[in-house]
Amino acid sequence: MRAVLCKAYGPPESLVVEDIASLEPGPGQVVVKVVAAGVNFPDTLIIQNKYQFKPPLPFSPGGEAAGTVLRVGAGVTGFAPGQKVIAFTGHGSFAEEVLADASRLLPIPSGMSFEIAASFVMTYGTSYHALKDRATLKAGETLLVLGAAGGVGLAAVEIGKALGAKVIAAASSPEKLAVCTEHGADAVINYASEDLRERLKALTEGRGVDVIYDPVGGGYSEPALRSMAWRGRFLVVGFANGQIPSIPLNLTLLKGCSIVGVFWGDFVRREPKASARDLEELMELLHQGRLKPLVSASYRFDEIAQALNAVLERKVTGKIVVTP
Ligand SMILES: NC(=O)c1ccc[n+]([C@@H]2O[C@H](COP(=O)([O-])OP(=O)(O)OC[C@H]3O[C@@H](n4cnc5c(N)ncnc54)[C@H](OP(=O)(O)O)[C@@H]3O)[C@@H](O)[C@H]2O)c1
Repeated sequence: MRAVLCKAYGPPESLVVEDIASLEPGPGQVVVKVVAAGVNFPDTLIIQNKYQFKPPLPFSPGGEAAGTVLRVGAGVTGFAPGQKVIAFTGHGSFAEEVLADASRLLPIPSGMSFEIAASFVMTYGTSYHALKDRATLKAGETLLVLGAAGGVGLAAVEIGKALGAKVIAAASSPEKLAVCTEHGADAVINYASEDLRERLKALTEGRGVDVIYDPVGGGYSEPALRSMAWRGRFLVVGFANGQIPSIPLNLTLLKGCSIVGVFWGDFVRREPKASARDLEELMELLHQGRLKPLVSASYRFDEIAQALNAVLERKVTGKIVVTP
């Protein structure tokens, strides 16, 4: 089978596509024939040895995929060859076959395309865990989403609306902000050309925002936190900008607010029942038409460098996928 391989850590150009042996499932495992794999920012980090999870070399990157069950290992119940499934694997999905523990599989709901199925779980799972479990976002509260047209950002915009919040989306271009509006944002801020604090002050009539969702980091985090309302919650989701900001802790005292970490991968591992419940609730929201995942482009395996560079160069809206 063909697989994208990371044989030595480096930029996207250092990845190769090679023929390797087919995969055999161990006990409790399933081999899935990949139809589409979702691309996420962590895929750009894992190949550079900059991610929390460090699979031994060589490995295939790719945190999630959708396809059909090919082979089932001993003791697996509930999945059979030919069944359409989502696999959230952490790595290994940029390949014609991916190995997953059965606990990391979900049946694809009827009517959902392989492309959407391949790009739903990680971003929506992260944003739902962040907003519902970590921030306890309530109807009527104001939510600010930074990097709002990206993968986790756009999911946060839609989930924020589904939970009844007023959503302010911040991103770096008019085109990206138009996508945020199409996906439900009530107000938008171009943080590349406008003053974030001034705009937030005007949009909230000086009150500030209740919840901040930050997957970007760098220079936006502190001005956002300075725009927090009393008892607000600041969600630390990621550092796509590349810089981990240092925050003056007195700001939390002055605003009676919390800074809350979000680590979806470990949430799934440590709290499997809660994570499974979240995914069921998300599938229900999707079924009701309240979530509209956006897949904006599709690349082949031999275009993997272009796909990952599009992420690194801030060119992606919503999600992109790669297909064998
Ligand atoms: N905590 C968790 O459990 C968890 C789970 C999944 C992902 N994450 C993290 O969340 C972050 C976003 O992931 P994603 O998959 O949503 O990525 P994405 O689709 O690429 O979105 C990231 C957004 O960040 C903004 N950005 C600002 N500076 C950037 C830069 N130098 N390079 C790239 N993007 C930049 C871009 O928006 P503008 O151009 O509008 O600024 C972009 O849309 C990553 O740091 C990722 O590791 C965390």
